[in-house]
Amino acid sequence: MQDSPLREMRSSIGFDDRDADNVRSLAGLVTPAIPALVDRFYQQLLQQERTRAIFTGGERQIQRLRDALTLWLRDVFHRVDDQAYYDRRRRIGSAHVRAGVPQHYLVAGMELIWQELERRIRDAGIPHAADKLQSLRKLLAIELAVMLEGYKESYSEQVRKVERSAVQEKLTRAQHLAEIGQLAASLAHEIKNPLAGISGAIQIIRDAMASDDPHQPIVTEMLGQIGRLDATVKDLLQYARPTPPRAGRVALDEVVTRVLTVMQEEPALQRVRIAYGRAQTDTTVYADDTQIERLLMNLILNAAHASDDGGVIDLSIASNTSHVKLIVKDRGKGMSSEVRERAFEPFFTTKAKGTGLGLTICRRIAEVHGGDIELESGLRKGTTVTVILPHSNTDKNPTATR
Ligand code: HEM
Ligand SMILES: Nc1ncnc2c1ncn2[C@@H]1O[C@H](COP(=O)(O)OP(=O)(O)OP(=O)(O)O)[C@@H](O)[C@H]1O
Ligand SMILES: [Mg+2]
Repeated sequence: MQDSPLREMRSSIGFDDRDADNVRSLAGLVTPAIPALVDRFYQQLLQQERTRAIFTGGERQIQRLRDALTLWLRDVFHRVDDQAYYDRRRRIGSAHVRAGVPQHYLVAGMELIWQELERRIRDAGIPHAADKLQSLRKLLAIELAVMLEGYKESYSEQVRKVERSAVQEKLTRAQHLAEIGQLAASLAHEIKNPLAGISGAIQIIRDAMASDDPHQPIVTEMLGQIGRLDATVKDLLQYARPTPPRAGRVALDEVVTRVLTVMQEEPALQRVRIAYGRAQTDTTVYADDTQIERLLMNLILNAAHASDDGGVIDLSIASNTSHVKLIVKDRGKGMSSEVRERAFEPFFTTKAKGTGLGLTICRRIAEVHGGDIELESGLRKGTTVTVILPHSNTDKNPTATR
């Protein structure tokens, strides 16, 4: 046989032909004890809450496993060391990944098998028992190594799959954004100029009105409505053609203070209280401060809209060596899992006056800064949004434009 992985393993564990003969010589003794040993094995696994939880397939699964382990044990003592054997043993390892068995359970399981075998072989009082047991011990080490080998392979494959689908999701989202973006951009563009025209015209009319004209309030209201429309259009444009961040060193806690000052008069904030404990850590990020302000305003507004009268919104900043976290937490109505699923979707809104772009824009801003945004929410449990931004001292920074 050429230098197969199995052979390599055998030589590194020091398992030689004499060991192989030793193990084979135990077959006659062990074979009749296999059914009892298999019983003991599953009895032990089913005794413990943690391992029991893994067997979800009921009595039939246990029976199938009993048969599988019986065959497996028989093979240990009648082994044929060829590639097919090695591959088969490896596949057993991957079966455990699919079944959700943690890796260390396999180590523990193998120990259990060893103890059972050892006890029986010792009790039989055969000649050279110690020597034969040592050979068996080595063989079980090889079996475990092969099994873990298969486990590892299958496990990494699973991890890669999850990562691939995450990347795929990001790509799909990016495409989706691009398409909607183009549509939105042309629409917004079409609306923006006439809107400016209307607004200008109404202002001229207002200026020409007598100050006691009873229609004054109506005209003012019109201008207010136009202002809101204009803000929406600007949102759309920001979403559709996001300006690249003009980044510099920014102290996040100063941004927070500034935003809180600017938002003082905001009607939605009159019903709530914002608690901001000033950060005690280094909060410098490499960022575009106008974009971060915008992000924070969106999050605070969302939190305020969700809160009951008198509700408290907690603002805080935390940081470690690589990242700064900006956390906006409310105790408001929270989101159902359906809303939570779709919250970042462009134009998804549950509000009569919402555009549904707030969180989409927040996410985009976080991402162009090389950061991320996380959302935790449960119905009537409030919502916590965490924005993660890399520290300004991180070497590689994709947003460096000046
Ligand atoms: C270390 C010694 C162990 C050996 C030799 C062993 C052996 C086997 C074998 C031969 C199979 C069948 C594989 C296949 O279908 O290709 C299997 C599957 C399985 N084993 Fe193990 N096992 C061990 C440890 C454990 C432990 C500790 C647990 C749970 C705590 C466990 C749970 C399972 C489960 C859930 C399956 C999948 C059953 C199914 O297909 O429904 N095994 N095992
Ligand atoms: N803090 C929060 N608590 C509860 N629900 C929230 C919260 N933040 C967002 N949501 C839900 O997610 C939806 C989407 O939020 P998003 O900010 O993207 O849009 P919007 O607030 O509806 O509109 P706008 O574009 O004006 O921000 C909201 O309509 C709301 O249902
Ligand atoms: Mg919003």
